[in-house]
Amino acid sequence: MKKKTKVLVADDEAIVRESLRDWLDDVGHQVLTAENGPQALEIIRKEKPAVLITDLVMPGMDGIEVMKKARELLPGIEVIIITAYGSIPTAINAIREGAYDYIEKPFCPERAEILIEKLMEHRRLREENIALHQKLEERYRFENIVAKSSRMQQVIEVIKMVAKSNATVLITGDTGTGKELVARAVHSQSYRRDRPFVAVSCAALPESLLESELFGHEKGSFTGAYAQKKGKFEAADGGTLFLDEIGEMSANIQVHLLRVLEEKEFNRVGGNEPVKVDVRVISATNVDMKEAIAQGKFREDLYYRLNVVNIELPPLRERTEDIPLLAEHFLKGFALENQKEIAGFSPEATDFLLKHDWPGNVRELENAIERAVILAQNSVIEAADLSQQELMPAGSTSPAKNLKQVEEKHIQDVLAKARGNYTEAARILGISRMTLYNKIKAYRLNVKKIDNKR
Ligand SMILES: Nc1ncnc2c1ncn2[C@@H]1O[C@H](COP(=O)(O)OP(=O)(O)OP(=O)(O)O)[C@@H](O)[C@H]1O
Ligand SMILES: [Mg+2]
Repeated sequence: MKKKTKVLVADDEAIVRESLRDWLDDVGHQVLTAENGPQALEIIRKEKPAVLITDLVMPGMDGIEVMKKARELLPGIEVIIITAYGSIPTAINAIREGAYDYIEKPFCPERAEILIEKLMEHRRLREENIALHQKLEERYRFENIVAKSSRMQQVIEVIKMVAKSNATVLITGDTGTGKELVARAVHSQSYRRDRPFVAVSCAALPESLLESELFGHEKGSFTGAYAQKKGKFEAADGGTLFLDEIGEMSANIQVHLLRVLEEKEFNRVGGNEPVKVDVRVISATNVDMKEAIAQGKFREDLYYRLNVVNIELPPLRERTEDIPLLAEHFLKGFALENQKEIAGFSPEATDFLLKHDWPGNVRELENAIERAVILAQNSVIEAADLSQQELMPAGSTSPAKNLKQVEEKHIQDVLAKARGNYTEAARILGISRMTLYNKIKAYRLNVKKIDNKR
């Protein structure tokens, strides 16, 4: 049966109130009446009706004002306006101000009945839509990871499974596919969640510094070691150590790492006493480890130790289903951050997102959405907001570049030439690997390691 709706009729003419009440009562609604604006607002405060039907012209307070105040009191209230015959412009104005529809006087009360029915149907659909949307978001989200595609759903299943164990996890995948995000998810689903998660990038530091960064050092162990320093392994005790870019790890450090994994102990640099730790190691790389092993750059025994469980993150272009949800996820965050009200994407913008190749994967998408939010002029992201900012095509007759742009382009070219190998690229550029690493991060370059897989 039709659900009964609480309706408030506000009109200074008794005949209008009576006729509407009789009719709507008969069809099963609960009808309240008010003779003027203040009385109507009082009733709204107390009774919280779903619908307000108000005359536009009333002594004291007019219908538009009643509507505005009513919505302040009760934001969800729907308003139908009653207007005099022939005053369509006023009615249109009321709709612009947020009324749902209008009824012309003299009127047939049945029109009110139909409008209420339409209105409630409309509202039901909208609520259903919101609920559905929320469910979708929840369903496809796990620890901040948006994952709708079946490949990402599988990743989530593996995360849940390995989180319970202490097994090492090797996360592989191209740049920006979410490796660190996944590492954090494994940690926060594990019993170690209240202990530290410590991340170290093996590409960020030259070998000598990396060793003391990881294992610490004793006072006087080298020039400049004025005091004993604890390393990241000790900092992560009881928790998880995330070793990023392990493909960049030197042979010497590989030996030390193997020992920690096998014996759960290590020596600080310059130290004789072994230090015991309870650390779970999760590592990540975007190089092809099999090839690194074949080339003698990475120890096979260490690889097997690190790779008890492998999580492979597919490139974004192989899981396009995730793109719209990811885009919405980022849009929400950046719209809030930039205090912009942007409801979504135009169909053309969505199309653009789906067709783009995303060499920088989720990070590139995230950056593109951030810039689009900043550029957006309308209440939706348009295709132009995305396409405008796209990478200047190589060799385009763009205005003269500044030094930074030249540097960025040159680094990108050298990295491509070095097939994504940091050490090699740094050598060609004549800078340290750390400097190179910092520049890559600063320019947000997408480093593609050539892995001969594709
Ligand atoms: N499935 C996802 N859902 C939501 N956000 C994601 C997802 N995947 C990645 N991101 C976001 O994209 C960005 C890049 O992810 P992350 O840093 O984990 O990538 P990465 O694989 O470690 O990249 P790199 O190889 O360059 O270090 C982050 O801001 C992360 O939060
Ligand atoms: Mg990373």
